[in-house]
Amino acid sequence: MGELSEVPVGVLISGSGTNLQALLDACAEPDSPAKIAVVISNRPGVYGLERAREAGVPTVVAPHRDHPDRRTYDAHLVSTLRAHHVQWVALAGFMRLVTSTLLDAFPQRVLNIHPSLLPAFPGLDAQGQANAYGTTVAGATVHLVDEGMDHGPILAQGVVPAEPGEPVETLKQRILQMEHRLFPMVLRWAVEGRIQTEGRLARIDLPPGQRRWLI
Ligand code: GRF
Repeated sequence: MGELSEVPVGVLISGSGTNLQALLDACAEPDSPAKIAVVISNRPGVYGLERAREAGVPTVVAPHRDHPDRRTYDAHLVSTLRAHHVQWVALAGFMRLVTSTLLDAFPQRVLNIHPSLLPAFPGLDAQGQANAYGTTVAGATVHLVDEGMDHGPILAQGVVPAEPGEPVETLKQRILQMEHRLFPMVLRWAVEGRIQTEGRLARIDLPPGQRRWLI
C-alpha cells in the first residue's frame, strides 16, 4: 500500500517495549497498511522510547503524575494522539487503566495485549498467576479495551505450553514470543477494517488462511 493510505496508529507503553518492537517491525514491511505515528510513554527513560527513536517514530513522554486524575490524564493522551492523526490505539505494556475519556475518543479502536488466556488471570503478573496456579497451557490475548481491567471483547488468543513448577521467567519468555506474533496480526486486521463488535463478541472478517488463535 502507498504511504498515503497507511492508517496512523498510536502506541502507548510503560516499559521495555518488545511488543512495540514487533509492531514497528511489522509496520516497516512494504505492504503494511498501518504506520506507527507516535509512541507515548507514561514513564520517562524506558527502553521502548529508544526503540521508537531508532525507527524514526515521534515519541512523547506523558507522566501520569503531572495530571490530577485519570480523566485529565486521558484527555491529554487524546489530544496528543489526535495531534498525530491517530485512528487506532495499541496499548503495548501500558500499565494504566484507561477511562471513557480515551475510549469515547476512539470507540472500539483501542487494542490491548495481555499475557494470559483471558478471562483467566487478568491484572498484574498474569504469567506468575498462571505459574502459581499450575496451569499446563498459558498464552496471550489481544482484546478491545473497555473500562474493565483486561476485559473487553477478545479478538485473538495464542496458546503456549506451560510446565507446572517451571521458572516463571521461562514461561514469560515463551508467552512474550507468542505476543510478538499475535499483536501485529491483530493490528493488521484492525486497520484493514475487519473487526466488528456485537456486545462483547467481536466478529472478524479473517483474511484467507488465518485464524483467531495461534499455537
Ligand atoms: C507484555 O507481557 C504485555 O502483554 C503486558 O506487558 C508486557 C509488556 O512487555 N501488557 P513489553 O514492554 O512489550 O516488552
